[in-house]
Amino acid sequence: MATNIVFHKGSVDTAERAQLLQQKGVTIWFTGLSASGKSTIACALEQHLLHLHKFCYRLDGDNIRFGLNKDLGFDEKSRTENIRRIGEVSKLFADASCIAVTAFISPYRVDRQVARELHEKAGLAFVEVFVDAPLHVVEARDPKGLYKKARAGEIKDFTGISAPYEAPENPELRIKTDEYDVAESVRVITEYLTQKGFI
Ligand code: PPS
Repeated sequence: MATNIVFHKGSVDTAERAQLLQQKGVTIWFTGLSASGKSTIACALEQHLLHLHKFCYRLDGDNIRFGLNKDLGFDEKSRTENIRRIGEVSKLFADASCIAVTAFISPYRVDRQVARELHEKAGLAFVEVFVDAPLHVVEARDPKGLYKKARAGEIKDFTGISAPYEAPENPELRIKTDEYDVAESVRVITEYLTQKGFI
């Protein structure tokens, strides 16, 4: 960390910004195996909320790795750094009164906890959504052919095959994508956001 730096507070705090913009910020953090449905549900949720005229923005694992995180791979250290950066970026979006929707495998519990604490320390809500589909289901879906390559040893450190996935123990929401379709998943999340007063 750099030295000789001083945090400069703005003239409008998080609460006043939310009041002025008539929207509370929150991060909806999707976690789950590759092909579990994170990106699909995140896209549909973002579209639904925007159509309700809510300020919402999606950060997606594959997409972010084309830019901000293009220096990172899939070893444990890189994944931790990936999630650390996204925790920081989503916190900024939430602080800006945005509904930040993140879709990252985020396989390590401790990394997700760090992202949560970062939000909670800043008085911002963090909603963990476990996009839950068993390995045999996601492997059968295999939309990008990645599981096949991982089984063949062509991709190393592949989540669920040769790298761990630590499922959440107490997520705010759990979406079983082998039981719920996309519309139903969006409905469940929207209902939660309504109940909690975010929309
Ligand atoms: S992580 O674990 O949170 O850092 O991963 P994330 O940034 O979400 O990136 C996951 C997407 O990268 C592709 N991909 C891999 N996933 C897992 N393991 C390995 N080794 C790997 N290599 C490439 C894959 O398309 C993931 O996208 P999703 O949408 O999850 O299928």
